[in-house]
Amino acid sequence: MVCIEITPNIYWNGLNDRTSDLFEGIWPITKEGVSYNSYIIADEKVALIDLVKGIKTDDFLSQIEEVVDPATVNYVIINHMEPDHTGMIKTMQKIAPQVTFVGSERTKQMLEKFYHLNTNFKVVKTGDTIELGTHILEFYDIPFVHWPETIATYERTSKILFPCDAFGGYGALGGSIFADEYEDLDFYKEEALRYYSNIIAKFSRFTLKAINLLKGLDIRIIAPSHGLIWRNPKEIIDLYERWARYGTEPESAEEGVTFLYASMYGNTEKLMGSVAQGLSQEGIPVKIFDVARTHVSYILPYLWKYRGVVIGTPTYEAKLFPPMAYVLDIATSKRVINKEVIRFGSYGWSGGAQRDLEPRLDKLKWNLLEFFEWQGGPTLEDFQKGEDLGKRFAQHLKNFN
Ligand SMILES: Cc1cc2nc3c(=O)[nH]c(=O)nc-3n(C[C@H](O)[C@H](O)[C@H](O)COP(=O)(O)O)c2cc1C
Ligand SMILES: [Fe+2]
Ligand SMILES: [Fe+2]
Repeated sequence: MVCIEITPNIYWNGLNDRTSDLFEGIWPITKEGVSYNSYIIADEKVALIDLVKGIKTDDFLSQIEEVVDPATVNYVIINHMEPDHTGMIKTMQKIAPQVTFVGSERTKQMLEKFYHLNTNFKVVKTGDTIELGTHILEFYDIPFVHWPETIATYERTSKILFPCDAFGGYGALGGSIFADEYEDLDFYKEEALRYYSNIIAKFSRFTLKAINLLKGLDIRIIAPSHGLIWRNPKEIIDLYERWARYGTEPESAEEGVTFLYASMYGNTEKLMGSVAQGLSQEGIPVKIFDVARTHVSYILPYLWKYRGVVIGTPTYEAKLFPPMAYVLDIATSKRVINKEVIRFGSYGWSGGAQRDLEPRLDKLKWNLLEFFEWQGGPTLEDFQKGEDLGKRFAQHLKNFN
């Protein structure tokens, strides 16, 4: 793409990545892609806000050249040290040795460790400013959104907030960089929630703190480091605030069920249909995932927003079926806590899945209401039990608040 002017002399200078399969080496983006957004402010002094991943380096430099000579850049603001925004840092320093990198004290220390660079570095903290000419940059510490060193940059004249990963989302930019120029934002909103649940969720408390701090600013545009630019900032702030609340106020979760199941020979799968039927008859939204066939990246958004979880899993070597254990492990590390849960599953001789499950649920603070197991194939009576279990669980969820 080419540089796109956002407001006079402020440009989007990002890269779309449509060929990487995994973000952070774990989250699938094969179909969706991702953008690394960098910005140029071309005033008397020239500043770049965040860089990009170390891919398509020539494209990135050519884009800068459309606006300014890259050798004349005065400042590179590093809102966040993660390599998807600093991959270009050595190249930038070679091209513009006079450049001053700007970030928090933590960023300075981490840059040295990650890149072993001896750079001009200016440490900033909340309230500090840098004048570029008519544009003035203000800095705000927003630690742990989602690394310890993160800051946000606000440009006073244009009233643009550059919050890096906060308010970001997966999804390469197609057609426009501005959210308001899309007829239908469903794809980007879903991908923003997937990104939130994969990357930011664990730090929801810090995210709410950052939102409260930044809400004091007169923000006209939010320009994050991944995904769309929001000229109606309230839209993305409200979404992020709601998602952060799911992590800090469990009662704000939505009425719905993430239905996780796995089955080797179909015995547990057979009951899945009955339990789901019981839930659906009561009008509860249900999203069903075969955990052995669905990457956890796509499961996390539902676990994050819905209050209920159904776990359908057989016993495997006296424990949970391994892909189910993996999903619960990831949920634990992402702090997907405080859910209402039921469980069912088949076993062959000894069982053991339930014994493996219970301490995991304790760690997650998930409240197990009921479970039932049967040996081998389900009987007609088991099918009925499954349906009744689904109905009771739906009633419980409806009466929750
Ligand atoms: C590799 C493997 C390991 C198993 N380990 C156990 C076990 O330790 N204890 C047990 O009760 N059943 C065990 N089973 C039996 C399954 O739990 C049983 O076949 C169950 O009906 C499978 O349900 P499914 O068809 O939904 O996968 C094992 C099955 C397999 C294939
Ligand atoms: Fe990041
Ligand atoms: Fe990022």
